[in-house]
Amino acid sequence: MEKRYFTYQQIHKTAKKMAEQVKASGFNPDVIVAIGTGGFIPARIMRTFLGKPILAVGIAYYDANDKPTVFPRKVQWIEEAEKKLSGKKILLVDEVDDTRTTLEYCVRELMRHHPEEIAIAVLNNKEKTKKGSLPPEVKHYFVGESLGDTWIVYPWDAQDIDVHDELAQT
Ligand code: G4P
Ligand code: MG
Repeated sequence: MEKRYFTYQQIHKTAKKMAEQVKASGFNPDVIVAIGTGGFIPARIMRTFLGKPILAVGIAYYDANDKPTVFPRKVQWIEEAEKKLSGKKILLVDEVDDTRTTLEYCVRELMRHHPEEIAIAVLNNKEKTKKGSLPPEVKHYFVGESLGDTWIVYPWDAQDIDVHDELAQT
């Protein structure tokens, strides 16, 4: 599969662009919910422009015996979620919309806490057939950059960031 390397510099600019899209849309989130771990750094960069607090969630596809599973499982979730999310506008942030499974799961779980609105921001959307779908309650879907079905290499996975950045230039 074709690979695309993104540098921190590019990610920062993409996250800024998404924050600008959020502002231009008129959607004014009360809170950012970052889907770990890929969503942590994009969410933090967006906070620079949106100035909102960040809550973090983590999802895994492994069971208690470390066997892969088809269904997502919460490994970390928001404490006192109902108190913090009820009636609030949530901006859900992740790095990539691939199969959409994680996004669908997170949106459905967050909706149980009766937020006023949920919007999604992803750095990259892969234009492909999705396994998951987003409920109509998701009023805004912000994308930094859409790609085909490419394997994206993010800088936070680099063993050597200088080599990574060189690969990103080619
Ligand atoms: P989606 O709902 O957001 O589409 O995600 P999906 O469940 O399909 O993705 C499963 C995992 O695969 C996610 O990581 C996602 O970040 C990762 N992934 C999918 N496509 C790519 C890609 O092109 N490049 C990279 N580097 N990762 C990709 P995860 O298991 O949730 O863990 P984490 O890496 O976010 O910690
Ligand atoms: Mg992820």
